[in-house]
Amino acid sequence: MQVLGIKTDLISPGDDLVKSLDKAMAGSGLALQDGDILVVSESTVATAEGRVVALHDVTASPLALSMAAKYSKDPREMELILQESDEIMGGIPGVVLTLRGGFLYPNAGIDNSNAPPGHVVLFPADAQKSAFEIRERMARGRKIAVIIGDSRTHPLRLGCVGVALACVGMEPVEDARGQKDLFGRELKITRKAVADNLVSAAQIVMGEGDEGIPAVIIRDAPVSISEVHCAIPTIPPQECMYIGALRSGPRPYTGGYDQLIEQAAQAAKDAYAPYSGFLVGAALLSRSGKIYTAGNIENAASGADICAERAALARAIASGEKEFEAIAIVGNAVEPVSPCGICRQSLIEFGEDIIVIMANAKGDAMTATLADLLPKAFTGKCLR
Ligand code: THU
Repeated sequence: MQVLGIKTDLISPGDDLVKSLDKAMAGSGLALQDGDILVVSESTVATAEGRVVALHDVTASPLALSMAAKYSKDPREMELILQESDEIMGGIPGVVLTLRGGFLYPNAGIDNSNAPPGHVVLFPADAQKSAFEIRERMARGRKIAVIIGDSRTHPLRLGCVGVALACVGMEPVEDARGQKDLFGRELKITRKAVADNLVSAAQIVMGEGDEGIPAVIIRDAPVSISEVHCAIPTIPPQECMYIGALRSGPRPYTGGYDQLIEQAAQAAKDAYAPYSGFLVGAALLSRSGKIYTAGNIENAASGADICAERAALARAIASGEKEFEAIAIVGNAVEPVSPCGICRQSLIEFGEDIIVIMANAKGDAMTATLADLLPKAFTGKCLR
């Protein structure tokens, strides 16, 4: 197998990537052949597609400002991360882990390496479409595959390996199940991430810095070229051993229940809390679309206190509701208000997947499911 680098001129926003690759290949006596796999780096595709943003054109929202402070990010970059991702899974100083279209990305794939000063390069708008179009234009009757590649670290490993973001013309993942191991035992779960492995091979030649090699041709790889044009397969987060193992507990709230939070904040105004002075409001959204609100109700004998969440739940149940989508809780506290243990138990009776939005009057908010907040709960199932 050979990995042949294509050294191009600097690719700028709006450049025709195929023309640049053709010119570079002609200049170094390279031409695509039947069976070749062209691997192009994600940031080059994105740059040519004009996915370059000047940070001074970006205005950070209040949410971006608070998340930028939390994760030590530039607020404008945080704004772009929020716009570009489907979900923020958490983060460490400088890096926010995001989900976009089922793929995990650091910082929503937003890159400031190989971007002009003051600019960042976003991820290609539709990498699979880009790969398809590059192949359409570059094949010229030859049987080739095109992969758009990026680099990633694996959990707890130092250094990046290749990952295919899009692949056209070959199977990205080979199913090795059913094949025999050296001792004749049948392989049960092995699938080979062929496209990812090819990107890793490509990156040995491409490098990540100023090498000016944004694409490579992989020749004589033991891969068959076909008319396959399917997205890179992914698995749902809860079935992934890393995410499944680590994803529990509250995450930053990134939208979807603003109205529910607002109603909970209103309900806190009617709380009866003369003893603690700690006013809490809850708003419970039923699957039928109705919202039931309440504040906490205190008593001179504090054991008789009723939290806002259980007061809202009582109103909903008394109105005939049994199924709920989400509950927002707002209190005038430094941290978002978390439901107490008794409320978690009362709510989980009606569903482990109820979304809990914990907020404070300043606008900080976190979200989790009830199962996240009450793992291994005692429920009706345990009685059966
Ligand atoms: N409280 C709630 O209403 N909800 C919570 O999630 C936490 C605590 C109330 C109960 C009591 O009236 C006051 O806050 C102080 O504990």
